[in-house]
Amino acid sequence: MYQKIGLLRINMDYSPISGVLGMTVATDPVKLMKQEVGKAAAAQVKSGSIVGLGTGSTTAYAIEYLGLRLKSGDLKDIQGVPTSFQAEVLAKQYGIPLTTLDAIDHIDIAIDGADEVDPHKNLIKGGGAAHTREKVVDYLADRFIVVVDSGKLVDRLGAVFPVPVEVIPMALTPVMQALKKLGGKPDLRMGVKKAGPVITDQGNMVIDVKFDTIDDPAALEKILNNIPGVLENGIFVNCADLVLIGEVKDGQPVVREM
Ligand code: 5RP
Repeated sequence: MYQKIGLLRINMDYSPISGVLGMTVATDPVKLMKQEVGKAAAAQVKSGSIVGLGTGSTTAYAIEYLGLRLKSGDLKDIQGVPTSFQAEVLAKQYGIPLTTLDAIDHIDIAIDGADEVDPHKNLIKGGGAAHTREKVVDYLADRFIVVVDSGKLVDRLGAVFPVPVEVIPMALTPVMQALKKLGGKPDLRMGVKKAGPVITDQGNMVIDVKFDTIDDPAALEKILNNIPGVLENGIFVNCADLVLIGEVKDGQPVVREM
């Protein structure tokens, strides 16, 4: 769905429809789960907080609800730290004042999505190619809340989703070779409605690497980041404090905690 923000016309990718009152109302079950879970996370933000604003379709609902809470007066004096261009645009749209890491000395709470969550709350992120900034902000936060629908839960990381690796463009070929030597199947992420590769907010490229199994996510995270030319990868270990999971039970969306 495209929305006009100032001079920008941007695909917000979470397709709400306007409700009669307050928050937009999602239509299909997955979107409804994402909406409920985003709202539940935003409800945990207290006045005066500095809030890390994650990226993706689930976090978009949290940003929308934070804006509504500010507008209604239920929430006051928050400042957002966006993890991407998308988060920045949404925050501006919903009236959330923004700050930068240069101007603050801590982040109280961060809300962000994930592509996979294992039973230890370890994550794979980067489906939106924003994992580098997300990692900076999410690790800095005193409290990091992950918002997912139940389809993101896996027994072991890498079961479904490849690991996104952000690489500086001049190192693309040697990094691809190094990833193959590690037993991965690397795939350069290509743009949609754009010829050529996805370019991150930092001007780099993303290689999605499928591993047959990831036995030790903490070790793999370090090994990947040690390849010269790699900026950051999407494995997040020991970062999440709380995972909010959206599910549909008896036709109704419910949110449970992990
Ligand atoms: C972006 C991310 C997202 O948080 C992740 O891809 C989940 O997105 P969504 O809520 O749209 O499923 O890591 O880099």
